[in-house]
Amino acid sequence: MAHYAVTGSASGMGAAVARKLRALGHTVVGVDIAGAEVTADLSAVEGRRAAATGVLAACEGRLDGAVLAAGVGPTPGTERVITEVNYLGVVELLDAWRSALAATERAKVVVFSSNSTTTVPAVPRRAVRALLAGDSDRALRAYRIFGRNAPAMAYAASKIAVSRWVRREAVSQQWAGAGIRLNALAPGAIRTPMLERQLSTPAEARAVRSFPVPIGGFGDPDQIADWAVFMLSDAADFLCGSVIFVDGGSDAFFRADDWPVAVPARRLLSYLRRTRQFSRTERSRR
Ligand code: NAI
Repeated sequence: MAHYAVTGSASGMGAAVARKLRALGHTVVGVDIAGAEVTADLSAVEGRRAAATGVLAACEGRLDGAVLAAGVGPTPGTERVITEVNYLGVVELLDAWRSALAATERAKVVVFSSNSTTTVPAVPRRAVRALLAGDSDRALRAYRIFGRNAPAMAYAASKIAVSRWVRREAVSQQWAGAGIRLNALAPGAIRTPMLERQLSTPAEARAVRSFPVPIGGFGDPDQIADWAVFMLSDAADFLCGSVIFVDGGSDAFFRADDWPVAVPARRLLSYLRRTRQFSRTERSRR
């Protein structure tokens, strides 16, 4: 049976994933601010370090997979915490766990993104760039002009950055080359304590309830957990660098024609360059 690390294991979708994995006979090392095997505050650098080392100690340096579900929603004044938990709480932990994941040769990682990545307009690109460049303070400065919408911008930017980080790293030697399948899951509105908190504020509840969901209603945490468990299974051996939207159709509703798109002719040279680069790396690996 396999060993998994699950962050955000005390509530919502993380708790549902941990429950399902345990029911299948796997060992789960949960990470959360309270009520988990490893208790750590992912909004502080020391907490992230403690979470990283606590899991490595518990799994004796070998992980078959990890699910990064800890997250903070967009409530007033939370821009810094959102940035630290939703972005740094994923990339710093995964960097620390990479060798333990590589040790099992076919490890799989599921990162919780969100459909806010593609359904929130005007997210500042410079904030996303700053996060990916490792400059959280610059990202935080970019949200200031949004006033009371700053948390929503910080939330969407954290999820765009983490999805992009997943896609960039997933295909690299350090991840795909080490047999680690790294993917993201992008849910829409799912009925968890996070969503309940938003629904308890009248203004936020109005925004949540008026948001277009073609299939109707809210998603169920157990269904999303089934997707995560599937993405950890052998059936997902060929899944690499994907961001899977499970959102009742909201992303397709707003952007049916945005993706997939044909690659413009001006990108031809860069495709050829990437292809040559890939062949060279493959040859040197053999
Ligand atoms: P939740 O609020 O039920 O669970 C989140 C968990 O993260 C909690 O157990 C919480 O204690 C933990 N956490 C928060 N801050 C932490 C910190 N500083 N240190 C350690 N742990 C901390 O939320 P839910 O809905 O289950 O969310 C799971 C993931 O899915 C999150 O990343 C969220 O952003 C994402 N998501 C949620 C959606 C929803 O509608 N519920 C929609 C799209 C994405």
